[in-house]
Amino acid sequence: MFEKDKLKEVEVTFLKPGSILSGILFDEKGTMLWPARKPLNDIFISKLKVKGIEKVYYVPPKWKSGGDQAPMFSTESLNFAQEALDEMVTQIKYGKIPELKNAKTTIEKLFHDMELNANGFLNLMVLKDYDSYTYTHSINVGLLSMFLTKQLGFNTYFIQEIALGGFLHDIGKIKIPSKIVNKHGNLTDDEFKVMKNHPVYGFKLVKDDPSLSNYVKKVVLFHHEKWAGGGYPLGLKGDAIGNFAQIVAVSDVYDALTTERSYKKPYSINDALLYVMRNTNTHFCSYISQRFIYEMSQRYELGSFYPVGAFVQLTTGEIGYITGKDKEYTMKPEVAILKNQKGVPLRVPIQIDLKRDTSRQISKTIDEPEEIEKLSYLL
Ligand SMILES: [Fe+2]
Repeated sequence: MFEKDKLKEVEVTFLKPGSILSGILFDEKGTMLWPARKPLNDIFISKLKVKGIEKVYYVPPKWKSGGDQAPMFSTESLNFAQEALDEMVTQIKYGKIPELKNAKTTIEKLFHDMELNANGFLNLMVLKDYDSYTYTHSINVGLLSMFLTKQLGFNTYFIQEIALGGFLHDIGKIKIPSKIVNKHGNLTDDEFKVMKNHPVYGFKLVKDDPSLSNYVKKVVLFHHEKWAGGGYPLGLKGDAIGNFAQIVAVSDVYDALTTERSYKKPYSINDALLYVMRNTNTHFCSYISQRFIYEMSQRYELGSFYPVGAFVQLTTGEIGYITGKDKEYTMKPEVAILKNQKGVPLRVPIQIDLKRDTSRQISKTIDEPEEIEKLSYLL
């Protein structure tokens, strides 16, 4: 239910193109105007002004800790991580075996931060510029892997080893031509063939380092393997891949999906978690991915995994909106169907409960403002 008094009010004059709000933006009647964490643009802001809307409202983020919004990781540790990566990349480019002492110190610092701020906001790094993608992504995969390994109940040793694996997982990309690594858009088949060598290149860089455990080395080599087979480089399955490479695999995919690049829109947190859910048992081991979905949806309570009122498309092609949800089943809310498979509006919405209705799943949230506006007339 839309509760205006629980929302933050923002004057439209304060909205700027490129601003990112942490919550979904509503008008004063509760119509969803703009998704959370998507940069605002000129057209959207002008439309608000043309319509005479002076104030909009958004849901402030709430974290599981109940108000403690301190970031989990300190800027100092994140900067240190970036320098450590930079140092390794330079060493590899000069044909040296990378010195991993600072990578390990990075993980120790980040682990210390996480222990101090266990209920803090999981502050993943945001891509600042085009060139920093690999660095930002490697650090985020390290942070997510560290967080998930802890939530899965592993001890300090494993948490740090897997985080180090996450931090180093793509190190082999340094050996791939940068025009392929940094290409805007999809790779051709030939380019993808070259790209698929990066786990092996990475493994060659770390395999003889006596200071690294086999856990880290296996993560570097196996992070693109899929639980049911069909991944690369070896096409392994299940236990042959192991839990640790799967922790990094799910972190890797989640961060790649939710990062905005010049050539692609980022997935919302909900949609990225939904992607993980759909690829459970094929790409991801369910023990790992279900825990990831649960922990992330709890932490980013902002969406409670599909906010009530959000419009969604179902796998049947039907369109509806979320009317309620069960805390235990945040991925399977109650939905009122507004349009049938052919896109025809129903005279009376059909209420379904996705917990019980196994023939339908949510395929995506609808976040285009124009589309949301059209659908809101059907309510
Ligand atoms: Fe990779």
